[in-house]
Amino acid sequence: MSIPYRIALVTGASAGIGEAFCRQLAPRCEKIIAVARRAGRLEALAAELAGETEVVPLAADLTTVEGVTRVLEALRQQGPVDTLVNNAGFSTFGPFAESDIDRELALLRLHLDASLELSHAALPFMREAGGGRIINLGSVGALINMPSTAVYGAAKAFLLQFSQSLQAEVAEDGIAVQCLCPGLTHTEIHGQPDMAGFDKSRLPETLWMQPAEVVAASLAALEQPGAPVVVVPGAVNREMLGGAVETLAASIQQQVF
Ligand SMILES: NC(=O)c1ccc[n+]([C@@H]2O[C@H](COP(=O)([O-])OP(=O)(O)OC[C@H]3O[C@@H](n4cnc5c(N)ncnc54)[C@H](OP(=O)(O)O)[C@@H]3O)[C@@H](O)[C@H]2O)c1
Repeated sequence: MSIPYRIALVTGASAGIGEAFCRQLAPRCEKIIAVARRAGRLEALAAELAGETEVVPLAADLTTVEGVTRVLEALRQQGPVDTLVNNAGFSTFGPFAESDIDRELALLRLHLDASLELSHAALPFMREAGGGRIINLGSVGALINMPSTAVYGAAKAFLLQFSQSLQAEVAEDGIAVQCLCPGLTHTEIHGQPDMAGFDKSRLPETLWMQPAEVVAASLAALEQPGAPVVVVPGAVNREMLGGAVETLAASIQQQVF
């Protein structure tokens, strides 16, 4: 049983899954520190949710040292944060050999460096308060190989392993760590210039979820006794991943080298 929700910090709060987190955390929290680059979006969200909670808009680019530093300062000064959602992200798409290496490295800074820095800064406050929760945005791509997203998939696999190990380390402090692994979700991510070449229309609607459904699954999983670390929203995604994990296990067990 974790401590009550009070102050959350959500990265990538200006769109998609992060915005949905803010909406669903609003009735639970006194304050949400909402981080993204587009200040106007964050201010509009703050105005919309003003009747439910205080949203503190914080414009920052989490691929930069200055941006991460500003968010770390807010975490220390506006906290203590009991709920950290490391959600901000983008994906590249295409063969790694022909990719823009600067964008791949920026992807790692955003998904990995920023998530590690914020988690590292938040954990002492959570320990001091007797609990808290950290949600890291993984993906089904953390567990199954998706062509043309080598770096993105590897970053998500990092977050999955990190979340599992961290949970073992901080469980005694009442801190819940979750790696939320959505499948295809209708957000802005697939329309970004980095994803040119990804044809959304080829994929059947049955594979897609809405951000609100993904977030509802995440928050419901946290309420469960012995909350799972790896949370996969959607029966289609769970079936796909279950099959992929079984195939890998069978391949390993058959090896006789
Ligand atoms: N949608 C899916 O199918 C899917 C599936 C699995 C996992 N995910 C993961 O879910 C998370 C959220 O993605 P989404 O699908 O909701 O995408 P989205 O709609 O494109 O939202 C991405 C969010 O990240 C923020 N962001 C991007 N670059 C940033 C930067 N440099 N600094 C600070 N904030 C930045 C964006 O805000 P600004 O542009 O205003 O900065 C936006 O708020 C990501 O980690 C993604 O990998 C998504």
